[in-house]
Amino acid sequence: MDLQLQIDQDRCTGCGMCVDDCPYAILQMMNEQPCVDEEKADQCIRCQHCLAICPTGALSVFGISPDDSIDLHNNLPTPMQVETLLRGRRSVRRYSSRPLSQATIQKLLTVAGNAPTGVNNRQFLFTLVEDQAVMEQIRQQTIAGIRKQAEAEQLPQGLEFFAGIIRAWDSGNDILFRKAPHMLIISSPKNGPSPEADCYIALTYFEIMAASMGVGTLWDGLAKWAFTSILPETPAKLGIPDDHMLGYVMLFGKPAVKYHRTVQRDTVGIRKVTAF
Ligand SMILES: Cc1cc2nc3c(=O)[nH]c(=O)nc-3n(C[C@H](O)[C@H](O)[C@H](O)COP(=O)(O)O)c2cc1C
Repeated sequence: MDLQLQIDQDRCTGCGMCVDDCPYAILQMMNEQPCVDEEKADQCIRCQHCLAICPTGALSVFGISPDDSIDLHNNLPTPMQVETLLRGRRSVRRYSSRPLSQATIQKLLTVAGNAPTGVNNRQFLFTLVEDQAVMEQIRQQTIAGIRKQAEAEQLPQGLEFFAGIIRAWDSGNDILFRKAPHMLIISSPKNGPSPEADCYIALTYFEIMAASMGVGTLWDGLAKWAFTSILPETPAKLGIPDDHMLGYVMLFGKPAVKYHRTVQRDTVGIRKVTAF
């Protein structure tokens, strides 16, 4: 693998931090400068730690310039700001019908794409429903499919309560999709190193970034059940690759509600292991 490692001679101080931080010891110092150990190059997981740790921004890898990274000095939110964001994020179940701009959606997806993955495999895939007309087709067809099974009393065992979701729909209450303008389905290859965890973490990144931008989200477990257990043909209809597992479904859009304060859920299960 060609790592395209480039060292700016004027900036490199020969400190060796890039070498020390490489998780697979692919870099080595030679003549007080980092270089690739060619025998190990194929093991590189493209994590870019070498680029991130260089104090002087002297190292470029894979054609990526350190000058295009966000500088971490003085740019991080305070702990209080992070805490407020984490505690203030809410599940949004009421949405404005006004769609988000493509720029906003692209920003959310790009930031979420920075989530960590097992062995930096980065194989998760966002299947995005951006268009409200398409969202409406999915809504209608999903409800029709569930209705058919509910009327025939053929809903899968344990999911009979979906009959109530149809009754709610008939009285104007969209419990399944919350009338959200957009939907995101995340999937990852089943045979990857950590598909479930990768999907949950990436959607969490998406949700937290969304909260910071005033965009509402909802983890939609009901839609996941509908798409995987009741209407298992759905992932293929959505174009999700056959060899992928559907990680989760998330609704999102501009909230039609505003929350004014955090909730208080400070009891937390903690055990301390004091002997082993
Ligand atoms: C994995 C997961 C699945 C969820 N599925 C649904 C769902 O199908 N419908 C729904 O209305 N809320 C769903 N929620 C939202 C939870 O009910 C919500 O997170 C919880 O009540 C706490 O509220 P908060 O998110 O506003 O803090 C889900 C949340 C998670 C984490």
